[in-house]
Amino acid sequence: MIEVRAFAKINLSLDVLGRRTDGYHELRSVMQTISLHDTVRFHHEESGITGSSPQGDYSLIDRAIQAVLDKAGMESPPAIGYELAKRIPSAAGLGGGSSDCATAIRAVSTMLDLNLSSEELLSVAASLGADVPFFLTGGAALVEGRGERVKPLPDARTRWFLLAGQNTAVSTKSVFEAFKSDQHGDGEATGRALAALANGYVEFGGNDLASTAIQYFPEIGQTFDTLAQVASLERIAMTGSGGTVVAMFENETQANESFRRLQNQLPWLAVASSIGREQSIGRMA
Ligand code: C5P
Repeated sequence: MIEVRAFAKINLSLDVLGRRTDGYHELRSVMQTISLHDTVRFHHEESGITGSSPQGDYSLIDRAIQAVLDKAGMESPPAIGYELAKRIPSAAGLGGGSSDCATAIRAVSTMLDLNLSSEELLSVAASLGADVPFFLTGGAALVEGRGERVKPLPDARTRWFLLAGQNTAVSTKSVFEAFKSDQHGDGEATGRALAALANGYVEFGGNDLASTAIQYFPEIGQTFDTLAQVASLERIAMTGSGGTVVAMFENETQANESFRRLQNQLPWLAVASSIGREQSIGRMA
């Protein structure tokens, strides 16, 4: 049996550089693993792939397990079961489903001693979703292309985050479809986040998808306004395609105090810290 934490991510920056011929968008983003996590327990089963999750989030993990077994070319694949305890809200820009997938890829290859190369694991990850490759690396990373080019960055100083949402399920696909090329930022959001990291700071660089997401889901704009009671605007950003909005703090006390101030004003709030690479991809025993 293997029990693994599947951590969430936030985007410290997100540049949408243009539409690609494959229908996806060319991205440039600094992603950071945070302590909010799902927990997945994997075990050997009698037959097939059997999962259980309180929120019925089966199919992504099923697909990830199947994809790993296919990649390993197993003639009679062993049966795997899992239980998922979900804490990361779905369709919230926190990468929860993608992190569950990456966790399944790593756990199954460890459990079955599959000896897949890192290129093979990466290709399985990229086939499952644009954010999945990042979660094989974790920590802070520069993510480019569709999401498949992941360059690890050194761990930065720990930061504390207040994550806020209105329980809006935001479809990433719809936000990208609604995104107009004139809503591109200056393409420098990621440059700003990288420059800060190089100097030992963690700063938000900007998110090109924010104005589109706010236009379709005005409650995301309201979440920004609510967080502005506890943090300055340059320390507040939307993550991914939304709808979670994140305020950044220097320490846990400030994050917890802000949580208490706002807890009756927002339907979903959580405090999380950034976590380094080694912790983010965990130890599998
Ligand atoms: O790969 P994933 O299923 O996570 O992506 C969801 C949707 O987001 C895609 O179908 C696509 O419409 C959009 N997307 C994009 N460019 C990316 C990543 C995602 O257009 N780099």
